[in-house]
Amino acid sequence: MLKDYISKTTQSKRLYKRAKLVLPAGVSYFIRYFAPYPFYINWAKGSKIKDIDGNMYVDFWMGHYTHILGHSPSNIIRAIKKQIEHGTHYGICHELEIALAEQIVKMVPSAEMVRFSNSGTEAAMYATRLARSYTGKNKIVKFEGGWHGGYDPLHIAVKPPFNIPESDGITEGTLKDTVVAPFNNLHSTLEKTKDLDIAAIIIEPVLGAGGCIPANKEFLKGLRELCSDKSALLIFDEIITGFRLAPGGGQQWYGIIPDLTILGKILGGGLPIGAIAGKEDIMERMNPLLFDQSKFSFHGGTFTANPSTLSAGLEMLKTLEDGNIINDLNNRGDKIHQRLADIFERHNVEAIINQAGSLFNMHFTREKVWNPHLAYEADKEKLLNYHMRLINEGIFFLPGKCGALSTAHTSEDLDKLVTKTEKYVQEVDTS
Ligand SMILES: Cc1ncc(COP(=O)(O)O)c(C=O)c1O
Repeated sequence: MLKDYISKTTQSKRLYKRAKLVLPAGVSYFIRYFAPYPFYINWAKGSKIKDIDGNMYVDFWMGHYTHILGHSPSNIIRAIKKQIEHGTHYGICHELEIALAEQIVKMVPSAEMVRFSNSGTEAAMYATRLARSYTGKNKIVKFEGGWHGGYDPLHIAVKPPFNIPESDGITEGTLKDTVVAPFNNLHSTLEKTKDLDIAAIIIEPVLGAGGCIPANKEFLKGLRELCSDKSALLIFDEIITGFRLAPGGGQQWYGIIPDLTILGKILGGGLPIGAIAGKEDIMERMNPLLFDQSKFSFHGGTFTANPSTLSAGLEMLKTLEDGNIINDLNNRGDKIHQRLADIFERHNVEAIINQAGSLFNMHFTREKVWNPHLAYEADKEKLLNYHMRLINEGIFFLPGKCGALSTAHTSEDLDKLVTKTEKYVQEVDTS
């Protein structure tokens, strides 16, 4: 299998050799690495990406789940082009920041005010600080398998063994106020927090990196009550689920309203972004005209509210606002789930498809995957093998990661995924 890949990707192999000399591990973000080396892209449009050897792939990674309208949608490209004719970055106030904030307030139930950042990680960082500032407390509860970016206090318990930092260089002091609780287990979460005075609970309504695992509604409801009882803030990390599960994100999908929401990915229309949104009295803590330095929660940055990004984001949200596109994608998610599950069942392969709307992931295991332990206990080798075979067949999943549907995926693209999955299963059956 690797032989096929290597013979098709000679130019990528050459580039990777160059990359290793100047980029640690040869990449700009290690999740983008896969063995023996990643291929290099020089074109992306609609549902397709093309590598420098000319191989074309149907893309289900979609720029880390950013491109819900596919790569380079023409309405968004037009909006960006129009904006950059007027300036790429101002670093001064402009109307688009108001317009996009208004649009978020219109769409996201918990959003009364908004501040922009340049990444999801930054949004998580500022939301954590804001929650501490607003509540006057320090402890932040996060969940096993929860990924909120590389910010030190939240950079723990993302993958097994779920009790050590995910990186060296994170001090004990930074993690002193981080409490890790088990995902989808309200009883243990209540136990863990019963004697603690907590500032906030941060949770992805659907674990993304943790395996595409939807939270149980009762679990989220319990967290909502817990936060209200303890005068703590509930923070939804909707960096993946925002503008994907529903126009108002996971909170609309579940009907559970957090105090703060962090957003990213789809919001930038394909350009870098993050945002913190929430209730006015909380968000106003970022206003130094109202609060002196002892009570004010800082947020800012050179590229915040970059107009090129915001023009793309505004066009994106307006396109998604009425919910028709999202509903259609969610239905297509149900169908692809059914079709893939059917193949695995017919061939008696131990595999579970996790799905939430237009996001889906395979787990090679028999047991229902409702927490990240079960996701990591599934056979990772098989998943990597399956994804690598798909790559050889012209279908790209970042090996080991979820897939995301976009409006650009045609029925031929989805048929291809189904057919090639069946081919893989038949080959595995007979090998
Ligand atoms: C749920 C979630 N939160 C936070 C982040 C961090 O966002 P960024 O990579 O833009 O810093 C990500 C990124 O994958 C994410 O999936």
